[in-house]
Amino acid sequence: MDATTNRMNQDELKKAAAFAAVEEIRTLAPGAVIGVGTGSTVNHFIDALAGSGVIIRGAVPSSEASARRLAAHGILLVGLDEIGAGPIPAYVDGADEIDPGFNMIKGGGGALTREKIVAAVARRFICICDASKKVATLGRFPLPVEIIPMAHTQVRHEIARLTGGSSRWREGFVTDNANHILDVSGLTINDPRTLESDLNQIAGVVTNGLFARRGADVLLLATASGVERSERPG
Ligand code: A5P
Repeated sequence: MDATTNRMNQDELKKAAAFAAVEEIRTLAPGAVIGVGTGSTVNHFIDALAGSGVIIRGAVPSSEASARRLAAHGILLVGLDEIGAGPIPAYVDGADEIDPGFNMIKGGGGALTREKIVAAVARRFICICDASKKVATLGRFPLPVEIIPMAHTQVRHEIARLTGGSSRWREGFVTDNANHILDVSGLTINDPRTLESDLNQIAGVVTNGLFARRGADVLLLATASGVERSERPG
């Protein structure tokens, strides 16, 4: 199988997970406000939701890109201020990696900070993925860290000291919050909760792409034999 065929298959799997998420949203009370993440899997979700007949009041997007896609479908954009402290019933988003405890690495698309903010007000985090994202231990995918641009050097130094990993600047990329991203590779993340907190203590870090303190609640994992639904263990 060549790389193009592989990518096509992966995209079909992402689509299948997205359709399964629409069915989860269908079970909510009509007129709910939901959180919508960012990325290629979520793009399928937005398109599928728009064509599904499921009635929502609107969506809180986690990025400008998702906001544009939702608006293009005529879906009402809702600001976090409008929902107060929440909660909203559900947040749907993809992941770059997810482990058996439903801890995730996110931020491959650079939207990690707003994703964390919207996820924080959701009662349920519904993670939609193709099977390649399921891993035994997080860390093979470089961990994105959003930083204040002036702090590059000191943050890279501190990350190396703390983790032993090496960080690479995602050159040319600017987040929706006008910040930069460092991608940290060479990690084997056995304690994602601790690492998530420790990285956030470094001056100049806005947030990091570990979603462990607020992991997923439901996983819709698309495999070659169908979409498997599971809930966070424990
Ligand atoms: C966006 O910043 C990320 O957190 C995405 O959720 C993640 O990268 C998954 O993206 P895909 O759905 O494009 O694989």
